Amino acid sequence: MDIQTLYQKTILFAAERHGEQKIPCSNIPYIVHVSNVCMEIIFAATHTNGFDLPLAMQVALLHDILEDTPTTENELETQFGVAVTEGVKALTKNENLPKAEQMPDSLRRIREQPKEIRAVKLADRITNLQPPPDYWTQEKIRQYHLDSILIYNTLKDENTFLAERLLNESRMYKKYFIAK
Ligand code: NI
Repeated sequence: MDIQTLYQKTILFAAERHGEQKIPCSNIPYIVHVSNVCMEIIFAATHTNGFDLPLAMQVALLHDILEDTPTTENELETQFGVAVTEGVKALTKNENLPKAEQMPDSLRRIREQPKEIRAVKLADRITNLQPPPDYWTQEKIRQYHLDSILIYNTLKDENTFLAERLLNESRMYKKYFIAK
């Protein structure tokens, strides 16, 4: 299957599963978030040696599908194979853990994955560093910034191009809160 056809197959599957979901606090369909992550990945691929773009692209488009939709691991494996499924699983929070442990736990699992999966995590956070919703407290915004720096510090050696972009976006995000 050529990569454009694979993109179509994957984004249609993701769009169907995310259905009516919206980006939080907006009227924008959730699939826009997922395709923005994929856009970051496609640009990063041209700056990364030996990058498996089909793998990274599929994982980018499917990265929230286990966390946010009833799609099962088996179904994902049947449709997209083991490597994609393992990547998406690593990017899925373990909601049985206390909230404060969910990010470090996920980052630990992501670090055991190929560089393409680690790149998707960087791309996801770059895409999410948008103006925070009105109802977020200063504390939550500050924590979101700290989490972004944690992602940067943990994964910065995996993909220099995306790491630089994340660092820049994190710096710009500082305008949304008052530093302590
Ligand atoms: Ni996401």
